[in-house]
Order: sequence, then C-alpha cells, then structure tokens
Amino acid sequence: MLTLGIETSCDETALAVYDPNKGIVAEAVYSQIDLHAIYGGVVPELASRDHCQKILPLFESNILNTININDIKLIAYTAGPGLGGALLIGESFAQGLAAALNIPVIGVNHLEGHLQAPFLGKNKVQFPLLTLLVSGGHSMIIDVEGIGKYNILGESRDDAVGEAFDKVAKLLDLRYPGGPEIEKLAKNGIKGTHKFPIPLSDKDTYDMSFSGLKTSVLYALQDMSEPTDQDKADIALAFQDSATEALAIKVRKAMIKTKRKLLVCTGGVAANTVLRSKLIAISKEAEANILFPELKHCTDNAAMIAYTGYLRRDLASQSYKSLVRSRWPLKMLTEIHG
Ligand code: KG4
Ligand code: ZN
Repeated sequence: MLTLGIETSCDETALAVYDPNKGIVAEAVYSQIDLHAIYGGVVPELASRDHCQKILPLFESNILNTININDIKLIAYTAGPGLGGALLIGESFAQGLAAALNIPVIGVNHLEGHLQAPFLGKNKVQFPLLTLLVSGGHSMIIDVEGIGKYNILGESRDDAVGEAFDKVAKLLDLRYPGGPEIEKLAKNGIKGTHKFPIPLSDKDTYDMSFSGLKTSVLYALQDMSEPTDQDKADIALAFQDSATEALAIKVRKAMIKTKRKLLVCTGGVAANTVLRSKLIAISKEAEANILFPELKHCTDNAAMIAYTGYLRRDLASQSYKSLVRSRWPLKMLTEIHG
C-alpha cells in the first residue's frame, strides 16, 4: 500500500511516497525561496500561484518516473496550519487525484508531520519521549506519550525562534530564510562582543519569548552608525548563542522534570549545529538518547506528511470535504479528524 504525501503549507511544493515495507520510495521538493527572497519573507499570493504551477509537473516528472500511479492507495496532504491559499492548492490536488483513483484522502496536521519526521528512517519509535519542535512558525516543548498523545509543556509567547532568525537576518541585510545565513555569518563572529538577554530564562515556566531578543539586536545595530561585516558577524554570533540557549534552558528543565530517556528535535531550526550540540550535551546529562531528522526532513517536506498520513490511515475518508485550516493548533488535533 503506497501513501502519497503532499505538502504546500508555505513556500515548498513537496511530494513523497511512503511504502510501509521500504520507507520513502520517491521524494521531490521544489523550493520557492528565490521567488520570495527579494521580499525578505513569504508572500502568500505568490506562494499559492507557484504551488499551482509546480505541483503537477513535479508529480509527473519526479514521482511518476518511480512509481505506478495505480499503486497509490491513500493520499495524505497538509490541511493546516499554514497559508490558507497555499494549503488549498495541495488539498485540491489531493482530492482531484483521489477522486480519479477512487481512493481515500487524509488531511494531516503539519506540526504532527514535523513531530514524526525523526522516525522516517530506520529509527524505532520509543515512546514516551520529549520533543523540541522549532520552525518558522512554532517553538514548542512537547511531551509525547504516543501517536496523537501530545502534551504541550511550553511554547513561545510571541515570535517563533525561526521567525526571530529570519527577522534578525533581515536587520543584518541577509537573505531569507535567515537561519542558515546567520549560522554561516556567526562563524566569523568574536565571542563576547555582545551579550543579549534571554527572556523568561529565570521564570518557572517552559514558555519562551524571542521578540525581545530581536529588539535587542535592533538597538545594538542602531548604536552603530555603519556596522562593518565584523560587527554583523559578532551580532549574528551573540544572537544565535542567546536564541539557542533560550531553547536549551527550557529543554534541560523539561528533561529533568519528565525524566524522558529520548530527546527529539525537529523542524527547520533543528538544522542549526549550535542548537544540536547544546541538545546533545543535555541528553548526555540526562543519560538519554537523542534523535534528529535527516537534514532534508528538518525543513518542510512531504515525506513526513506521507508517513504521518499512513500512521493515521484509520481516519482517512472518501468524502473529499475541505479540511483546510490556516490555524490548527496541536492541542486541537482531534477536532478536524473526529
Ligand atoms: O520547518 P520549516 O521549514 O518551516 C516551517 O514550518 O516554518 O522551518 C523554517 C525555519 C525558517 O525560519 C528558517 O530560518 C529556519 O527554519 N532554519 C534555521 C536553520 N535552517 C532553517 N534556523 C537556524 N539555523 C539553521 N541552520
Ligand atoms: Zn514546517
């Protein structure tokens, strides 16, 4: 039984096919980064149009060259959260194809997709575990007891950490998406030149906050009449240190409290090597294992959607009504399925 996964929630048009016996057997991602780069962020209308233009050619040339269309028995697509128009393109494609093939569809929560991404490979899932989900839209610490059993311990009260990386990158005249650019620039930074505060670090909560950190960067830049490349690298380093430390402080606290023996980090920011090394140190302190998705499955992809759709296949149907929701919090997971 092959499951086709479709992801169009933001600026990646992605398709993948999951085979329960072999894992991911076909996978393609078309990134719209160049289209949005000059605007410093994703322009929703441009994203929808581009998904519309790219999805069918991507399916024909990158998926149907590997698998037989009639072997697809289930279609899983991202139903939310994300950009409404962009999500509708994925849903329309999923439902049109499913109707033609007379097979069921399932609307998958994008965040649940990220949660499952580390288990796409040969990694055996050992529940319970603690997950740090860090992307452009979310920063969450989640105690995972099983599939669908997600207890959110803490989350950002304002900007997501990926969003903070993107906004600070813009302040430093770097390209979108900002995370990889800041990580690269920070390598030239001199440690200790700046020190930015870490909001909520001493508070008795697992919640985090990143908008103040971004404002501190803005003030540091305003204090310099014309920042040099070295100034920018020093700021990038200090920002990255504070942002990753803000996450590490709360994860350490949550590992101590929950005593979980597996720590998982997923989402686009999980690609950051400084964050990775801090989390590896925390897992050692807690005598726990640690797991990250493959780099290509940290950022948005359809493999995680195909796999999650397969896990949740009991909820699939042939009713083809629209399930798209631009806001779909993890804690309301059952609402759309049930
Ligand atoms: O998961 P993702 O692809 O999309 C969302 O669901 O949001 O995450 C994208 C986010 C962007 O904010 C991007 O700047 C950030 O992940 N990101 C990184 C790195 N690579 C991507 N942040 C920090 N360091 C990185 N190496
Ligand atoms: Zn994502």
